[in-house]
Amino acid sequence: MSAAVENIPSVEVLANGHAYHNGANGVGNGVGGDVSNGVGSVGSARAWEQQFLPPPLVLEDRPRALKIESRLSSLVLCGATLRRVGEVFQREIESGLRERPSSLQMENTYVPELPDGTEEGVFLALDLGGTNFRVLLLELRAGQLVREDVKHYHISDELRLGSGADLFNFLADCVQDFVRAEGLEHEEMSLGFTFSFPMKQHSISSGELITWTKSFKCSGMAGVDVAALLQRCLRERGLRVTVQVLLNDTTGTLVAGAHKDPEVAIGVILGTGSNGCYMERAERVQHWEARHARVRDVVVDIEWGAFGDNGCLAFLRSAFDSEVDDHSLLPASFTFEKYIGGKYLGELLCAALRGLARDALFPAPPAWGALDSAHLSLFEQENLSGAWSQTSDALRTACGAPVSRDDALVAQHVARILSNRAAQLVSVCIATILRRMGRAHAAVAVDGSVFKKHPRIRSLMDKYIALLAPHHRFTLQGAEDGSGKGSALTAAIAARVAARSP
Ligand code: BGC
Repeated sequence: MSAAVENIPSVEVLANGHAYHNGANGVGNGVGGDVSNGVGSVGSARAWEQQFLPPPLVLEDRPRALKIESRLSSLVLCGATLRRVGEVFQREIESGLRERPSSLQMENTYVPELPDGTEEGVFLALDLGGTNFRVLLLELRAGQLVREDVKHYHISDELRLGSGADLFNFLADCVQDFVRAEGLEHEEMSLGFTFSFPMKQHSISSGELITWTKSFKCSGMAGVDVAALLQRCLRERGLRVTVQVLLNDTTGTLVAGAHKDPEVAIGVILGTGSNGCYMERAERVQHWEARHARVRDVVVDIEWGAFGDNGCLAFLRSAFDSEVDDHSLLPASFTFEKYIGGKYLGELLCAALRGLARDALFPAPPAWGALDSAHLSLFEQENLSGAWSQTSDALRTACGAPVSRDDALVAQHVARILSNRAAQLVSVCIATILRRMGRAHAAVAVDGSVFKKHPRIRSLMDKYIALLAPHHRFTLQGAEDGSGKGSALTAAIAARVAARSP
């Protein structure tokens, strides 16, 4: 479906009492047949816009409710703004693929095909990205997973913020501990390394870290090939383990999702961090360091967490976002991730309530760091069921002050607005990719703690993606352990492709 036939007319919209103007002649998306033929009425465009708005805050003290809504209005995005985000995203995708300046890495992962049910072998998999590091042993027979042993290792703050060499030595120690426990210390084995950070990949088995994200900031890693470093640390321990593939968690999610359902063509993580990848036509990808004549499609890791790092999304940023960014481990980096990632949603909640407290609209400011994304989910859960007692208990602890029912409802409203915005922004990305791929139907494999635990996020995403890409059928599928299983499957795919090469 071309963008032109999805135009909707310009319209003034009121979002919580604030006028937003939907710019004329934009490349838009209608919802439903009435606006999809390019002659939609102002009424239907208005109806389309209305669907992006969160419900109003209802308090007995109406002036207070109005002031709060006004104070939070910078967090409320209208359809026109989301459409603009989608246009910028599309432009940044094109530039990234062409290796022109862009905030999107659009990394070639060199994964040239998805599972076909013939995957075989025993593989080790490493999953690094959160506070837990996992080592897995996976056995595939005719594409089926017949064995999976897993061990979790805790990564201390000291290691996450120390030297890269210490971190990688620790990873290799964990592998050694694991293979010893499995009685495989002297076996030759292939390993898939799921490294959930942005990389410049040179091949399916090598790549350099571009920047740390989330809660990692190890020194001495500039320009270091993480697969080669891991390989060296493994060899130093006498292990006969070969790092066969280096991949991102989104790639693992896509590959594991496609293993279950061949219609899966997009992988998304909505957890501590956020990112997406998809199958792109190989000819559209500029960056190739190897022969690829027979490759038709390739998985591209978008790294949408960094979307806007070049300032192209300045129009989205609220004062609360700036506060979260200022407090972050890596300020001015991974702008978009700070709007949607689980690591930041609790901090945004904190920042917004602190702002309201400053204006005497909330009883006391929560201490910085006292609220996390689990609180956001809890507030949303209670809001869904019309309850407020756990919300007020949590707020009393976080603020150190008594909290009334209305105060709890205010905090639930803030959680609602932040959840809505996060769902809308991630939906813009998915909708843009769906439109770009232009398939009759595509399934999206989604993993991550926010997607799994937030009570409303999935239904919000279903709604907003449908509004933003009305002519593209899709299904969101909860994915299980892309970082583990996807890693083994990718290693098996790499072995299959290598065996076919002349
Ligand atoms: C990283 C991505 C990763 C995402 C989800 C981001 O911070 O840059 O590579 O896919 O988190 O784990």
